[in-house]
Amino acid sequence: MPAITEIEDLRRLYKRRVPKMFFDYTESGSWSEQTFRENSSDFDKIYLRQRVAISMEGRSTASRMIGHDVTMPVALAPVGLTGMQHFDGEIKAARAAEAFGVPFCLSTMSICSIEDVAEHTEKPFWMQVYTLKDDDYMRRLFDRAKDAKCSAAVITVDLQLLGQRHKDIKNGLSAPPKLTPKSVANMMTKVQWGLGMLQTKRRFFGNIVGHAEGVTDPSSLSEWTAQAFDQSLDWDRIRQFRKMWDGSLIIKGIMDPRDALEALNVGADAIIVSNHGGRQLDGALSSIRALEPILDAVGDKIEVHIDSGIRSGQDVLKALALGAKGAHIGRAWVYGLGARGQQGVTDALNIIHKELDVSMGLCGRTDVTTLDRSILMVPKGFSGDWED
Ligand code: GLV
Repeated sequence: MPAITEIEDLRRLYKRRVPKMFFDYTESGSWSEQTFRENSSDFDKIYLRQRVAISMEGRSTASRMIGHDVTMPVALAPVGLTGMQHFDGEIKAARAAEAFGVPFCLSTMSICSIEDVAEHTEKPFWMQVYTLKDDDYMRRLFDRAKDAKCSAAVITVDLQLLGQRHKDIKNGLSAPPKLTPKSVANMMTKVQWGLGMLQTKRRFFGNIVGHAEGVTDPSSLSEWTAQAFDQSLDWDRIRQFRKMWDGSLIIKGIMDPRDALEALNVGADAIIVSNHGGRQLDGALSSIRALEPILDAVGDKIEVHIDSGIRSGQDVLKALALGAKGAHIGRAWVYGLGARGQQGVTDALNIIHKELDVSMGLCGRTDVTTLDRSILMVPKGFSGDWED
């Protein structure tokens, strides 16, 4: 196996090892994928200021996210169907995050259930919550997260409707995969993946099957979201969720300063500036461009994190220097998981950590908690000068 030195190495290996249907699921944005592409390419428009002859000794990436100590302010974002990328994928990723000292957030759409992950980890993880019409399901979900000692609930507010991802429809994406001549032919070339899947009984949406009622085909993400998700979600409903959960609350999917202020008003502890990795509203701004106006609106009244487009430690450095208190990676860790299981997630974290640490040093800074915009060259009008 060639040396793994960058996230792209993991992506290449992942593409070879995992069935096309699941690779495509990760590697998609909605519709034209403009937002998916710009989430990453907009990071490249921000430059770093090289400084020299400044001591780079004693560097530290240690920080805090919603009051918890972290080895670096990077969390594993919730990603659906992860247990289809590698057998027992969510458990493996949670263990890698725990060993590294960063938060792991489990998706509602995971294959391994909340209870499964809790049983196989020592430290509390975060639980991502989709908002369903079924009030009983919602109450039980928060109770299950509490019983599992989850330390935060992350409510995703940008997916009442599923943005259309062409490849998933064309591939007939489902968990477990539907057996068609095409999918079987492709799966037969992924021997390690298949052998892994034979070892586990976790092949269904573990937080849904047996927990949510009235869902006719829970194997299909698009069917399930269309039937079960609450299209009438509003801030009053989110206020009710705040009452159902007394742990830390994070609202994920904020792209507009007005929505950031609403999140502050419902008593959230943190928000995540996110366009769902470009998988929801295609044509939305990249999240790195959306970040600063949101920070200007909320000041330090609420912790502001970011996801979408982060593939390197330098991307993390730029987000932190602009003012984010945490950066969440999604695809970067899934590439690692699909490529090499738990070891691959650890590889992804090590790569990002090293890139962050060394780049910070080369900017003449030694402490990740005191970074600021002065290490950056941000193009004028980066956040846009839009008509009202
Ligand atoms: C679910 O969160 C998805 O983006 O597919």
